[in-house]
Amino acid sequence: MATREFPLVPKEVERIQTPYRRIQTPIPVPESIPILENLRASEPRSMGGQPPIIWSGGDGCVIRDSYGNQWIDFSSGVLVTGSGHGHPKIVEAIQKTAGQGLYHAYCFPTEIRARLTSKLESLLPEPLSRVFLVTTGSEATECAIKLARTYGLRSHDSKKILVTFENAFHGRTMGSQLAGGSPALKSWVGQDNPDFVQIPYPDGFRCPDTSFDVFIDTLARKGVDPSDVCGVMSETYQGCNACLMPVEYAKALRKWCDENGAVLIFDEVQAGFGRTGALFGFEHYGIAPDMACFGKGISGGMPLSAVAGTDELMSLYGPGEMTSTHSANPICAAAALANIEIIVDGGLVENARALEPVLLDAGKKIMADSNGRIGRADGAGLVMALQFVQPNTTTPDPEAAFEVVARSIEKGVMLFAPVGIGGGAIKINPPLLITEQILREGLDVIAEVVAGL
Ligand SMILES: Cc1ncc(COP(=O)(O)O)c(C=O)c1O
Repeated sequence: MATREFPLVPKEVERIQTPYRRIQTPIPVPESIPILENLRASEPRSMGGQPPIIWSGGDGCVIRDSYGNQWIDFSSGVLVTGSGHGHPKIVEAIQKTAGQGLYHAYCFPTEIRARLTSKLESLLPEPLSRVFLVTTGSEATECAIKLARTYGLRSHDSKKILVTFENAFHGRTMGSQLAGGSPALKSWVGQDNPDFVQIPYPDGFRCPDTSFDVFIDTLARKGVDPSDVCGVMSETYQGCNACLMPVEYAKALRKWCDENGAVLIFDEVQAGFGRTGALFGFEHYGIAPDMACFGKGISGGMPLSAVAGTDELMSLYGPGEMTSTHSANPICAAAALANIEIIVDGGLVENARALEPVLLDAGKKIMADSNGRIGRADGAGLVMALQFVQPNTTTPDPEAAFEVVARSIEKGVMLFAPVGIGGGAIKINPPLLITEQILREGLDVIAEVVAGL
């Protein structure tokens, strides 16, 4: 994500004390520097992209270090902790399962796995009737790619093209990066794989024409025979700009897939489990995919992901042929079940929906006051992206986005480093249990920081 490292030089900053934010030290904290330096020395450089704050605890929608500082969390980690940090029901589920002495079971049956898959199945719409539990979002999208290709190849030898979108992100493993839409991220694989084809995403910003004609025309221009397409995969909202596709576009895509025997896959790794103000993001479109990939918010924090699919797709491989060592790890599965119950029974989807206008209206105002530095403020539910641009253009300005993250951290609002794909965006995505008061307090900080750019 980040292309820069935050300097490990303590800076005197204004002291802040509100019920939710507390900054009592220079930032970064002088005593924390040896730990941060140790990390920079012992890990790959890629791990050094996030702000130099040592997370040591959390509670609901705040994050703390061990030096007396506290932040309103607008990151949810990276859109993971929908039910907040340290939720007692998740802590209890983890402790109880560990207390039974069961922290691994491979694919041997467990009751917790059965409870979780049944719960998911009961929440998912037709035709998503089976769920495969794995570990990471990339593993889920890899699995969906494999199933789509396996399905297509049963028809004819050339039906193996996966269509995805420019600027899309589906993970960092080989297949998921080939499916991704950022050339810079896949230069290591080579860009010339004819089985992965990208189409402009209908965001109405960098691709002003949001009609489905662009999909058809781009395929034709790239010489793709629709009958050779095994599947189309899209993030339900595009992660880099938090933009849903137009409903009519999504419906046309569903129809096109049906007419051409292609599997429609929504990558719900970011959108799933309430983030957009609907339990599943694709509900906004009034259609259902043939497969959906989940991760991040499915478990509230423990490493667990899932692929949901039709009976036909999920039966392509026989017993023992599609498995994973850590499939439905019992502790992760228990945490995920507790998390889903908190989200569904605790009204968190409704909370995200109710707070959407507060978030988006603030975003539009911050953009209007930005002197053209923000080109777009878009989102749904409790996720919003502010796209920083060279004034009054659509050219990304990652430096400005980086600056806003750094200054916000100093004022007690936690953000992750600017999203690199598609340009310099910052994402605002607090835990789904945030209150309007805390949300407004954090947004006021961002507004102040942007106004001071
Ligand atoms: C839409 C989407 N798909 C897949 C992934 C990959 O998930 P993971 O990092 O758990 O492999 C991500 C991660 O950011 C994502 O946002």
